[in-house]
Amino acid sequence: MTAERMTRRRFLALAGAGIASTRVVLGSAFAAQEGAPAGTLHDLRRVPRRTEVDFGRLGRRTIWTYDGRFPGREIRVREGDRLRVIVHNELPEPTTIHWHGVPVPNPMDGVPGLTQQPIAPGGSFTYEFDARPAGSYLYHSHQGLQIDRGLVGSLVIEERSPHVAYDRDYTLVLDDLLPGEPPEMTAAQGDRSSRGRMGGGMMGGMMGGGGRGMMGGGGMGGMMGSLGIPDYLALLVNGRPPADPPAFEVKRGDRVRLRFVNASCATTYRVAIAGHRMSVSHADGRPVKPIEVDALEIGMGERYDVTVEASNPGTWVIAAAPLQGSPEPARAILRYSGTRSATPAGQEPEGLRRGKLLALGDLEGVEPDDRAGRADRDLDLVLSGGMMSPAWTIGGQVYPDADPIEIRRRERVRFRLRNMSMGLHPMHLHGHFFRVGRAWKDTVLVPPHMGEVSFEFRADNPGRWFFHCHNAYHMEMGMAREVRYVG
Ligand code: C2O
Ligand code: CU
Repeated sequence: MTAERMTRRRFLALAGAGIASTRVVLGSAFAAQEGAPAGTLHDLRRVPRRTEVDFGRLGRRTIWTYDGRFPGREIRVREGDRLRVIVHNELPEPTTIHWHGVPVPNPMDGVPGLTQQPIAPGGSFTYEFDARPAGSYLYHSHQGLQIDRGLVGSLVIEERSPHVAYDRDYTLVLDDLLPGEPPEMTAAQGDRSSRGRMGGGMMGGMMGGGGRGMMGGGGMGGMMGSLGIPDYLALLVNGRPPADPPAFEVKRGDRVRLRFVNASCATTYRVAIAGHRMSVSHADGRPVKPIEVDALEIGMGERYDVTVEASNPGTWVIAAAPLQGSPEPARAILRYSGTRSATPAGQEPEGLRRGKLLALGDLEGVEPDDRAGRADRDLDLVLSGGMMSPAWTIGGQVYPDADPIEIRRRERVRFRLRNMSMGLHPMHLHGHFFRVGRAWKDTVLVPPHMGEVSFEFRADNPGRWFFHCHNAYHMEMGMAREVRYVG
């Protein structure tokens, strides 16, 4: 056992006894500033710009990045720290950054036209907020389809006293890589729905620099299937294609915390690890009673943290297979130090096909449930689209031609979502955590074909908040609402 690990476990024991005082050193390459006092201000900078990125066998490709890095550098701070991020826009288009999941004050939320003016090319904007609560989050552009060009990164706020013990801490950012510019969605999309997904390769480079204009552009054929999922070139872990997977080192006996962050634009995954089960410890950053599974499904914008017992030496594949769409699974490697490091070509985790799959109802938050009595406001919201028209709708309305959902401060609000479409809709509410089943989350996957999910939240963060599907193509084609505090 390493000294580092003993320190960690000792800390947890002490924390449990209420004697915690020492700073913990994690085995992560990304550890937050060690020794920094609580409440530290982190002054950061992010520069969105066009970048040529080397994707190995997939070639060099020009995408949009933060600071030339893809995904953007992880922001890792401690709970209670303060974050200040100056964004200087070197893109040819306006942009914003949204701190997905963090209940920031409304003006810091990064939704263009709702909480701020977009940052013009050449312009700057400073985001500043308290880093809390602890959890795994992501940051991304909230302008149009920019999330599908590469403007994503993970944001980790470390707990002061985690409810699970671990020795190593790794983040796995899942992303879907386009072969070129984001496909344009047009009024012709409905015509294509009967043909389903179309062959790839048509739209790369055809759209010019802008890539804007969603409605009624006409004439771009062929890239967008009826489910609102483009034909991706590859699925990635931390920016790496399956043929060149990132490897995460472990030692026998370690407990390894893996933070799965789905930063994809339109891909939902089933995640499993060959030779290992996973103990799910956090859903969207919120701690849950640990639950052992063989696989979990993760929608766009969702995060799941798991711990894995490193008790089966070897070199193992961590795979994330798309639930809809055909690219080969995203891959990473779990590598025990001392094992010969040949990448296990063709190895597929059993959990992708059988075993215990995490269900929403399995999640039980460890944080208190503040609900009592019935909701003050109850809304039925039907999700549909992908059929006869290019629109994706909430309650039959197409954002921005949609009524704001008006709520009042301190109300308890319940949304009842029903999915009448064949698409998967990870529905995300900004600025709040909501209670779904026995868990807290901020994004929830509503299954297709009459899938139903209800959630409740306390109206405790005034402002104008976006509520939308996290498939950016669905969002751009109308599947969004404003949730507005009134009175
Ligand atoms: Cu991560 Cu409105 O989104
Ligand atoms: Cu959707």
